[in-house]
Amino acid sequence: MVKVNADYHSIARPFIFPMIEAKVAKHPKPVINLGIGDISLPLIPTVAKAIKEAVHKMEKTPVGYGPSTGYPFLKEAIIENEYHQYGISTDEVFITEGTKADSIAVQELFCQSACVGLLDPTYPAYSDGCLLSGKTHRFPLPCTPYFPEPPEETLDLIYLCSPNNPTGIAMHRELMTRWVAYAQRHNSIIFFDGAYAAFATPSIPKSIYEIQGARQVAIEMRSFSKTAGFTGLRCAYVIVPKELLEGKVHALWTLRQNIKCNGVSYPIQCGALASLSQEGKKEAGAQVNYYMTQTKALREGLQERGIPIFGGIDCPYLWWSAPQGVSSWQFFDLLLDHGIVSIPGIGFGLQGEGYVRLSGFVSPETVQAALDALPLLIY
Ligand code: MLT
Repeated sequence: MVKVNADYHSIARPFIFPMIEAKVAKHPKPVINLGIGDISLPLIPTVAKAIKEAVHKMEKTPVGYGPSTGYPFLKEAIIENEYHQYGISTDEVFITEGTKADSIAVQELFCQSACVGLLDPTYPAYSDGCLLSGKTHRFPLPCTPYFPEPPEETLDLIYLCSPNNPTGIAMHRELMTRWVAYAQRHNSIIFFDGAYAAFATPSIPKSIYEIQGARQVAIEMRSFSKTAGFTGLRCAYVIVPKELLEGKVHALWTLRQNIKCNGVSYPIQCGALASLSQEGKKEAGAQVNYYMTQTKALREGLQERGIPIFGGIDCPYLWWSAPQGVSSWQFFDLLLDHGIVSIPGIGFGLQGEGYVRLSGFVSPETVQAALDALPLLIY
């Protein structure tokens, strides 16, 4: 009899977000949802118009398979807007359907015995993805809640997400420089998840390629999801510099895309292109500001109540330390009793125990409702 893939048994717990959705669905009353980091604003008009026009074009002219690595028009716009100053070229940009899948796929290019450094807490897809591809040699990098220094030990692959999900804190330039230097010394590869780059304040490096030497050691992933409201559309990109392992990584990733992907749909890539136009950037920027305004209001409202909150300055996530001795799940339940949905920190790793994450991708009304619903004296 056929056996199931044993690697799936190595995942100790269900993925956190569907677990929360299931709990919320069973909750008897309407909730104030500060859980999953999903957009709460409609699609910006410039993107909606471009997608509609692309579909109309397809009604008149057949548009079949696109290039598996993405249309040149979108790659060129990404370079022009984000990467030309770092010497990245269009053939180092790969258009994909989302950073979640990309973050799992990048480690598959490397051998199973590779030692993978993972922040703890971390976005759980990184660590679960490693286990699914048989990479059991994982090295925790406690991020409690500030980013750690590079360790003494040699790590082959390192996941860094800045601004960070879930702690909402961004890595400053000096530390990022030390991580790049570490990767150069140890011949490591950094997987840099920049999904929240657009939310960072000006002093924070938005791309790892701002750091000298990063092209030799880092793959960067970015997404249109949070920046331009694409969570329901799906479009992202991966930068794979040719300098990595003398071109071997670029060649393998190209091969992988050719084998596994037939490209992101034409209308969606047209929409992503529109988000990089002058008008698109203005509209998307306004949404980013809106979410950061709500995050600030939530952070300040909680702080005024004496609640210990981290993050929320460079990223629309707040990391809330539960009262002494209260576990993440107990605190999640307590907040849910008051109608507030959070994400238990333990869902992001062992070091997330004793915290919950709140999302600032919400409306002013939701922020106010959350602040009103809080028990007067939680602590
Ligand atoms: C989050 O809430 O961390 C993410 O937006 C959800 C996801 O990307 O899976």
